[in-house]
Amino acid sequence: MSEENATFDIDFQVPCVHRLRFTQDLFGKDQDVLLDLLQSSGDQVPRVQFWVDEHVARAQPNLSMRIRGFAQQHPDNFNLIGNIQTCPGGEAVKNDIHIIERMLKCINAADLDRRSYIIVIGGGAVLDAVGFAAAIAHRGIRLIRIPTTTLAQADSGVGVKNSVNLFTKKNWVGTFHVPWAVVNDEEMLVTLPDRDFRNGFSEAVKVSLLKDADEFARIEKNATKIRDRDMDAVRPVILRSAQLHLQHITAGGDPFEALEARPLDYGHWSAHKLEPMTDFELRHGEAVAIGVAVDTVYSSLVHGFPKEDAERVLNCLRNLGLTLDHPALHQTEELLNGLEEFRQHLGGRLTLTMLPEIGRKIDVHEVDKSQMLKAIEYVAEFMSQSV
Ligand SMILES: NC(=O)c1ccc[n+]([C@@H]2O[C@H](COP(=O)([O-])OP(=O)(O)OC[C@H]3O[C@@H](n4cnc5c(N)ncnc54)[C@H](O)[C@@H]3O)[C@@H](O)[C@H]2O)c1
Ligand SMILES: [Zn+2]
Repeated sequence: MSEENATFDIDFQVPCVHRLRFTQDLFGKDQDVLLDLLQSSGDQVPRVQFWVDEHVARAQPNLSMRIRGFAQQHPDNFNLIGNIQTCPGGEAVKNDIHIIERMLKCINAADLDRRSYIIVIGGGAVLDAVGFAAAIAHRGIRLIRIPTTTLAQADSGVGVKNSVNLFTKKNWVGTFHVPWAVVNDEEMLVTLPDRDFRNGFSEAVKVSLLKDADEFARIEKNATKIRDRDMDAVRPVILRSAQLHLQHITAGGDPFEALEARPLDYGHWSAHKLEPMTDFELRHGEAVAIGVAVDTVYSSLVHGFPKEDAERVLNCLRNLGLTLDHPALHQTEELLNGLEEFRQHLGGRLTLTMLPEIGRKIDVHEVDKSQMLKAIEYVAEFMSQSV
């Protein structure tokens, strides 16, 4: 080998730990769970900054007092820096890139370093935005996510992605960054409005259809109890969904989505288009319910998914309290542009996940647009026909 044209291709692995905890009341009886996650480095007490979704802060006025009380009781474990920060809740926090700059200013003013912790409490949107700021500050500060929506507890909280929207495109700017830990605390869900409570279960249905037929049957059976917030029905579904997502990320061989297929994005090509088309009036989980319904009906038209199972999926989503029709679903020409945007976001050729049966997935690279239009029409009609 000559020195002038030297070439080295060396495989290497980066050790990562993904920590997921389930608690009932994190700032009450389960405090130790959080304390155990805050590791000191040497004799230095770690610096910790809290960020809270403003809607959560408003709905839970005692939360900041509880956090402060928790810090005062454990001065040897961590050093709460400055005020508890709040940021806009919902998609608004992802739609204004300047908010990221403000977050970075706060992180800088607090002198956080790579061994400090940012603890973020909020819905998936706030977790994404604060997670992005934490990932780029000093090239990565330890991030503890405390999701406060069913969607974020069942799905995005355990993810390794974070991003905000740019150029009116979802998640256009962001990074992959493994959180230090995720704590799914049941108490956080108490103040969640019904609409957002129901939202998250579309992702639980999605992952069960991809990976676990028995779990789909359980969600189907308990759908109305879940909709009515019976926590004995809800708890196992969130746990199983988070676990399936976590397994996919840690054992699926492609945590940073370098390969073509992104099975967890089943139903998402249209969901990601419907959100900006409706000016984010449709929530992510609502859009995913529609997207899962459309791709399931399409699977039944083109890929042999049993028709009666497609009906079960649509009924299950409806029984969970999710609406499968929206005026945007009727703007089919614009909606179908979502296929090309989905391809662009991934790069390379179009790869979609479809289902030949519940619990088994395939990758497809072509879409029969006339059948896709049929599937969209079928889903749009479904709500008006069903009881
Ligand atoms: N990073 C990922 O892998 C990933 C995966 C899926 C979705 N996402 C993103 O997550 C976002 C959607 O997240 P979401 O469904 O959690 O909704 P959200 O964050 O938009 O929250 C919904 C609303 O509920 C409020 N809220 C949240 N928790 C509350 C509580 N406990 N009490 C009262 N109000 C509360 C929020 O402020 C907001 O107004 C989207 O931006 C989506 O793109 C990210
Ligand atoms: Zn999603």
